[in-house]
Amino acid sequence: MVAARITVNGKEAPISPAAPHTTVLDFLRERGLTGTKEGCAEGECGACSVLVARPGTDKPTDWVAVNACLVPVAALDGQEVVTSEGLATAGGAGEPAALHPVQEEMAVRGGSQCGYCTPGFICSMAAEYYRPGRCAHAESADDGAGTNTDAEHGPNGFDLHALSGNLCRCTGYRPIRDAAFAVGEPADDDPLAQRREQSPPEPVATAYTQGDSAFLRPATLDEALRLLRERTDAVVVAGSTDWGVEVNIRSRRASCVVAIDRLPELRQLRTASDHIEIGAALTLTEIERRLDGSVPLLAELFPQFASRLIRNSATLGGNLGTGSPIGDSPPVLLALEASVVLAGADGEREVPLADYFTGYRQSVRRPGELIRAVRVPLPLSPVVAFHKIAKRRFDDISSMAVAFALDIEDGIVRKARIGLGGVAATPIRALAAEAALEGRPWAAETVEEAAQVLRAQGTPMDDHRASAGYRSAMLGQSLRKLYAQTTEAVSS
Ligand code: FES
Ligand code: FES
Repeated sequence: MVAARITVNGKEAPISPAAPHTTVLDFLRERGLTGTKEGCAEGECGACSVLVARPGTDKPTDWVAVNACLVPVAALDGQEVVTSEGLATAGGAGEPAALHPVQEEMAVRGGSQCGYCTPGFICSMAAEYYRPGRCAHAESADDGAGTNTDAEHGPNGFDLHALSGNLCRCTGYRPIRDAAFAVGEPADDDPLAQRREQSPPEPVATAYTQGDSAFLRPATLDEALRLLRERTDAVVVAGSTDWGVEVNIRSRRASCVVAIDRLPELRQLRTASDHIEIGAALTLTEIERRLDGSVPLLAELFPQFASRLIRNSATLGGNLGTGSPIGDSPPVLLALEASVVLAGADGEREVPLADYFTGYRQSVRRPGELIRAVRVPLPLSPVVAFHKIAKRRFDDISSMAVAFALDIEDGIVRKARIGLGGVAATPIRALAAEAALEGRPWAAETVEEAAQVLRAQGTPMDDHRASAGYRSAMLGQSLRKLYAQTTEAVSS
């Protein structure tokens, strides 16, 4: 096997002698690329953002911004990374280096003061700058009166969600937004724009060992399952957005990490007549772009799930695999009546998500099994909502979350599915509240009765995010809010 290597700003470098748990952030900084900063080391501030060449949706390659503090450098064996230093092009002899267009806009519009957050903003901004279709979106939305903008999109098509994972303590966000909304289209001879036309680096099978710890990337699902049978000590990672926090904040170390995020069997998205199957290792951004709103409840979820930086790495398989009671996807997938496809040594089995969680961070997944895919049955219920209760609108962990999927015909609730997170040791279905709605008129009286039932669902606790009483009150309010939002649409 070839020694593990990574290409940074066009130059290849060996990953050795970094320890297998070394993050991309530490690897870069130890090599003098100190533009990439550490703020929080847990995926919340974006100071560590870098660009990675990944398979594209509309072009062969997309430049994707990720949190370098969470990703083990061994996970980028054979891959290409660009940092803020690599965005500026070197000048000729005696010439100063030229700033990249996003750097130029940030500088002239006062988007940087202390500058600590700036390289991270620059990388996230550059990823959006190079997003295929950004300018086309702006043109198709142009009404000719210069009003083709909204609170979250610039006149240049720039989607502000690209910056939802970047925090700045001093500048204030308006000059940063001004810079984002001022960037134009990449020039024809822009090397990173040209790079999008070629394929991204293929994932390479990796067996990177230092001392008594190893980072392993199997090439196929069969190989991964065999490895998991042999290495019962293995920690399985996909985007590493959860494990990276454990490594950095809780100083956890694994003797063996097995990466499954590039397994082709886990990266398919297929639509059949009666279901959509979503590969467990597709990133949330990939799913969001490929579904393109065709599953409205998922489309409501994605913008509220952490930040673009996290969604560029995080996967549905990871969110279900960790079994967190406050993961954002389980309430939505429960409301969609999704099931989990588990692959193991004896083949595959499909488990309804409602039967998947068995206790706090426990599930029916057996040792050695992997989540291969999530299946969402069709047809979809038309009345949907996802209410995430958190202290911030974006880039936050939920105090609790509620997802609704209702069929309402002729004013009667034919079917109700309600998924809850953050009110019990596991994500749960609100079965009693569903029963209180089904077969009854979608009317204020029904909603009020069902809201009282919903308030009593689960066993919410007091903690630093919210009190039990607040969580319970929010359950009832969620249903009332849905009613207020949908009454007009249903009756019209
Ligand atoms: Fe804060 Fe990485 S250092 S997100
Ligand atoms: Fe200081 Fe953003 S400019 S943190």
